[in-house]
Amino acid sequence: MLPRSLPVPRTPDSQTAPRLRWGILGTGWIAEQFVRSLQRHTRQVVQAVGSRTLPTAQRAADRWGGATAYGSYAGLVADPRVDVVYIATPHHLHLPNALLAIEAGKHVLVEKPIGLSADEARTMHHAARTAGVFCMEALWTLCLPKYDVIRQLLTDGVLGEPTAVLADIGEAFAADHRILRPDLAGGPLLDLGTYPVMLATWVLGDPDIVQAVGTAATTTINGQLAITLHSPNAVAALHTTLQAVTPTTAVIAGSEATISIERFFYRTGPFALTGRDGARLEFDEPAVDHDALHFEAAEVARCIADGQTGSPLRPMADTVRTLAVMDRIREAVGITFDEAIIARR
Ligand SMILES: NC(=O)c1ccc[n+]([C@@H]2O[C@H](COP(=O)([O-])OP(=O)(O)OC[C@H]3O[C@@H](n4cnc5c(N)ncnc54)[C@H](OP(=O)(O)O)[C@@H]3O)[C@@H](O)[C@H]2O)c1
Repeated sequence: MLPRSLPVPRTPDSQTAPRLRWGILGTGWIAEQFVRSLQRHTRQVVQAVGSRTLPTAQRAADRWGGATAYGSYAGLVADPRVDVVYIATPHHLHLPNALLAIEAGKHVLVEKPIGLSADEARTMHHAARTAGVFCMEALWTLCLPKYDVIRQLLTDGVLGEPTAVLADIGEAFAADHRILRPDLAGGPLLDLGTYPVMLATWVLGDPDIVQAVGTAATTTINGQLAITLHSPNAVAALHTTLQAVTPTTAVIAGSEATISIERFFYRTGPFALTGRDGARLEFDEPAVDHDALHFEAAEVARCIADGQTGSPLRPMADTVRTLAVMDRIREAVGITFDEAIIARR
């Protein structure tokens, strides 16, 4: 039997989060979305911006309301007025850039994937614990009100025993996008696959068996992956591609009820809860895409103000678990990151 109604999201209003002074490290696409959402929906302050060059930093600072501009990441993290640094560089730079900030005594919010491997996530977590600073992967999905409703359905046992997670994410990228560059640790898995693997491990925990097959996009970059994860009483069937637009929906099936999350499952938007007898409850909200990034920023601000070194919404142990599964997927398919190609500058 389904409940009479869906649970209400417990996510606080982002405007009520304690005000922190943010340093933005890297001025690319996601940094722009993050700052826009932060400035629209929170009282957070964009204090400073660090870029590889001063003119780029200055242009971003001008767009973002007069933040202090630094022509190096080291300059940014040394600013004593910055409380927390948002790391928005390509994947392979997350670890060195986060360590730079952590060693300067800054709290960090690090874009997904937090590193290239579980070992990198562990290294970052260890450094943050040693320094006594906050560290979280910017897995914004888990900070959305919609996912708090799903979280409550799972913890309240409304689905019964979860039996399967089916999830897909696919986009068609232009040939010059960084996702097709081996020197930036490209391929769909780390960029897009993080979301379905996160969902499967969030719901089902660590899999016993990880299997994957893939096809290549170029001679040096994987194009797509079909992944199966096996747990004692559940399976996950996942797909990710950088070569085609695919449904990007997700299903969490359980013995008593099933959640079907519409495109784009990892963002805001509708989902349905369907019982064994066909009874149905619907969650609806406008799909606002990356304008919802403020929820993760507000979560970070609340945790830091509360003296926490991690968020219960995306604990570092869960980040490590997701990356450990991605390590096993790469091993199954033979995807390696060539240190000679990836220059960590
Ligand atoms: N949460 C989400 O929904 C979401 C969406 C997209 C991307 N992401 C994640 O965010 C990260 C950045 O993605 P993006 O799409 O914003 O990338 P992007 O547009 O290429 O921006 C990356 C920025 O990193 C800096 N950078 C430092 N070294 C670089 C190098 N060797 N090559 C290129 N850029 C370098 C640059 O800023 P400066 O020139 O200012 O130093 C650049 O603008 C990725 O890890 C990705 O997975 C998350």
